[in-house]
Amino acid sequence: MTPPRKLHIKSYGCQMNVYDAQRMVDTLGAEGFVETAEAGDADLVILNTCHIREKASEKVYSELGRLRVAKEEAARQGRAMQIAVAGCVAQAEGAEIVTRAPTVDVVVGPQSYHHLPELLARAGRGEPAIETEFPAEDKFGFLARPSREAIRARGVSAFVTVQEGCDKFCTFCVVPYTRGSEMSRPVARILDEVTRLTENGVREITLIGQNVNAYHGEAPDGSTWTLGRLLYGIAEIPGVARIRYSTSHPNDVDDSLIAAHRDLASVMPFVHLPVQSGSDRILGLMNRKHGASDYRKVVDRFRAARPDIAFSSDFIVGFPGETEEDFRATLALIAQIGYAAAYSFKYSPRPGTPAADMQEMVSATEMDERLERLQSLIDSQQAAFNKAAIGTVVDVLFERAARKPGQLVGRTAYLQPAHVMAPDNIIGQVLPVRIDSLERYSLLGELVATAAPVAGAATPLVFIGG
Ligand code: 5AD
Ligand code: SF4
Repeated sequence: MTPPRKLHIKSYGCQMNVYDAQRMVDTLGAEGFVETAEAGDADLVILNTCHIREKASEKVYSELGRLRVAKEEAARQGRAMQIAVAGCVAQAEGAEIVTRAPTVDVVVGPQSYHHLPELLARAGRGEPAIETEFPAEDKFGFLARPSREAIRARGVSAFVTVQEGCDKFCTFCVVPYTRGSEMSRPVARILDEVTRLTENGVREITLIGQNVNAYHGEAPDGSTWTLGRLLYGIAEIPGVARIRYSTSHPNDVDDSLIAAHRDLASVMPFVHLPVQSGSDRILGLMNRKHGASDYRKVVDRFRAARPDIAFSSDFIVGFPGETEEDFRATLALIAQIGYAAAYSFKYSPRPGTPAADMQEMVSATEMDERLERLQSLIDSQQAAFNKAAIGTVVDVLFERAARKPGQLVGRTAYLQPAHVMAPDNIIGQVLPVRIDSLERYSLLGELVATAAPVAGAATPLVFIGG
């Protein structure tokens, strides 16, 4: 019997890359590959890349420099190492990658992962193996399902892609070009996947998509389900304790999504709702197709349905033409909304996007200064939000052992990490925890005495807030 070939995969960027990496591992597992944590002893190394900002993109080339050395070392030991570049840089740059880094054997865009075995075989024969097409077939129908062991090894929280691509064309963003136009997976496939995950210990499902709330999937009866409708369907699957979804666009928040937050205890009251800027002028230049007050109204609708809901967002500072006044409008919006967390980025021009041709660049010093001011406002909001948990009892989904012996780490409804001294047979359960203190971003607390948890017992249902 030939020994299994070793696969090392490194993902950059978003949650969808994490999900895609798992699908690639599952698909190549069926071809006899096993995962290794070490790139140096792998027979195949896949870099699953991100193109969203220049910094993310450039990481690929420094990593490829290191891999070239590892590949030469493997060759000296008489081993062949193949190197594949996947993800959004692969999609955007295609054959250029091989020109710039001839050590690369395979370039594969996100829509072609199901062709990986064939591309590797082609590369093995010394033939070109570059694929950046958007094939007509749905790759998810061809990618292998994870084994039961793989699901268990990946823990109690899992991503499920429900939607891919984006038709919004924000002027700064490469996603519509790298992930293509919006497509939704059929409902039955998603429900099957969630059922299989929960049958194997998964308790939290995060539905992912670049524009997840634009979801419009075909249901078995021929009707079209929105994301809200899908949440009701998933909530009915036994074992689903928590449901999340990411990333949403404010314009696609419909009443079914709001109703799902109102009606379903398992839909977590924490929504990632990027706004990017608080200035109507900049939002216009960004082609976001909404203003700051439209965004505030969306937030209000969520809050009316679910008063304990919290939000996170993405912000870009230094978009071309952004003045101090525009930036202050962003700070004002942040102050009005009050976020539990947020990601913020300096604008990075991306080749091929409309904003890359805009002339009025904001200086690097101004960008740095604005980023710092924005982050300090967000940090203070986040600190206040976390501090408010002290002295309260919150539900925690226990995920894994923490570094400290005897301690477990889990997450609250708002994704705050919570560290608790507790027996590890409660991993996978949602239990109430009294929060005593805060250590940086992590909550420290104690299990609230209830009936002693029994290994393998059904997880209690979670009902949080109103
Ligand atoms: N420059 C800076 N940030 C960007 N993002 C997307 N494109 C760019 C860019 N060109 C940010 C947005 C988006 C997040 C995923 O990345 O805030 O919501
Ligand atoms: Fe990019 Fe999001 Fe805009 Fe789509 S909605 S173009 S993914 S920023």
